[in-house]
Amino acid sequence: MTANASGSDKDRVIIFDTTLRDGEQSPGASMTFEEKLEVADLLDEMGVDVIEAGFPIASTGDFEAVSEIARRVKRATVAGLARAGQKDIDRAGEAVRHAAKPRIHTFISTSPVHMKYKLQMEPEKVLEMIAASVARARNLVPDVEWSAEDGTRTEHDFLCRCVETAIRAGATTINIPDTVGYTVPEEYYALFAMLRDRVPNADQAIFSVHCHNDLGMAVANSLAGVKAGARQIECTINGIGERAGNAALEEIVMALKTRGDVLPFETGIESTMLNRASKLVAAVTSFPVQYNKAIVGRNAFAHESGIHQDGMLKNTTTYEIMTPESVGVLKTSLVMGKHSGRHAFREKLKELGYELGENAVEDAFKRFKDLADRKKHVYDEDIEALVDDEIVTAHDRIKLVSLTIVAGTQGPQLATMTLDIDGAHRTLQSTGNGPVDAIFNAVKALVPHEAKLELYQVHAVTEGTDAQAEVSVRLSDAEGRAVTAKAADPDTLVASARAYLGALNKLLSRAARGESGERIHSTAPMSI
Ligand code: KIV
Ligand code: ZN
Repeated sequence: MTANASGSDKDRVIIFDTTLRDGEQSPGASMTFEEKLEVADLLDEMGVDVIEAGFPIASTGDFEAVSEIARRVKRATVAGLARAGQKDIDRAGEAVRHAAKPRIHTFISTSPVHMKYKLQMEPEKVLEMIAASVARARNLVPDVEWSAEDGTRTEHDFLCRCVETAIRAGATTINIPDTVGYTVPEEYYALFAMLRDRVPNADQAIFSVHCHNDLGMAVANSLAGVKAGARQIECTINGIGERAGNAALEEIVMALKTRGDVLPFETGIESTMLNRASKLVAAVTSFPVQYNKAIVGRNAFAHESGIHQDGMLKNTTTYEIMTPESVGVLKTSLVMGKHSGRHAFREKLKELGYELGENAVEDAFKRFKDLADRKKHVYDEDIEALVDDEIVTAHDRIKLVSLTIVAGTQGPQLATMTLDIDGAHRTLQSTGNGPVDAIFNAVKALVPHEAKLELYQVHAVTEGTDAQAEVSVRLSDAEGRAVTAKAADPDTLVASARAYLGALNKLLSRAARGESGERIHSTAPMSI
């Protein structure tokens, strides 16, 4: 094996992050414009090679987010997704045109089931569309990716013809998605080996994997594709995405880093930023990371049993195959309390993997002081909940100013609420069937809206009766598009009000940017 540009003898694999597109498609995971920019900045800094910033034809909001990301991203290629229609492609081209390295990613379904029911198109027509869409995209940008949607359920002969057509029309990357998370590693490996062997111009494009996790094999399948010659991996932070999600970026990166002996590939990702990226994405989407999630779960480096702890004390390699530091989890050393000052708070934020601007640190510090006055022990989880809140509420139009509740056995329950709406204070009293209902009724009266409550969930951030309550609220708009928001407070009712307002703020931000419209996996025939 010969040495590559970085001097190592490993093959370089391109990391294509689709958190802002496929990830954002998960029901309820939508991000505001500002949140998308924040995520894109972090991905760029972390060393992601390609950032898929959105689906520009979907809505004005998506278009604006992709355009702004294209302008500000410094290192990465910025991709915009487009179906095979001319309008889609032109819109994607317009959105990425200011990027230093723009890419149009166009796709069409190739499997019998998708062609028949979703596209209602004959295979020959699909081939025509591939040639026309890729050629049109190539006229706009030099870097064009073509994807065979539902590629893993496509007949091999037809898939070969599609890939050959796309490359002939100018595609520089060929992506074969496992759209429905159906394949297994051996089969996916064989698929890439077959394509590279049979497609006559296969050597003129980079092959790419894109795996969904419906059977829990997205990462394993992606790595199998790479072993068979693919050199781009499409993935998302925390594995968020349609249904069961996409392959998790952090798992891919650390698998390659940790098992270089059997996976001789490298990425350009700075792995010590993985924890920070995970936290940011969890905060802005309000999608919790499962405790035992590989690499970034709360328990990923925790050793509970006596035998394990004994082994760890003797030598950490007994039970640790990678260090917590390598993914940005620092050993927590600072215990925080009401006497802790700004400096210690700042250090704690660093330890926990946060990097906030001056104003955000100051606001978070004030809330920390307030919490420390009310709560005996302030745990790391408390600070995480508080900072996550700070990140997502920074651009909110509606803020909770005060809330008083009258509750108990003698109903009706009463909420007196003051909100700051675009800088003006408004107060109202409302009753309800229980205190939470009274709160939500007060919000509805102060900010009339049609949003439907889809989920209301409470859990304790830590143990003890003085623990903060973390409330999740999911609201959906008239088109059924959902947003989720979380808030934490020692008072469950205050957290409930904040979480409801958080979700409402997200809906408002989306409506202001005209975000709704086209769905990528819509089953309606495509209008061209
Ligand atoms: O899963 C899929 O097929 C996709 C394509 C749009 C690339 O996300
Ligand atoms: Zn996908």
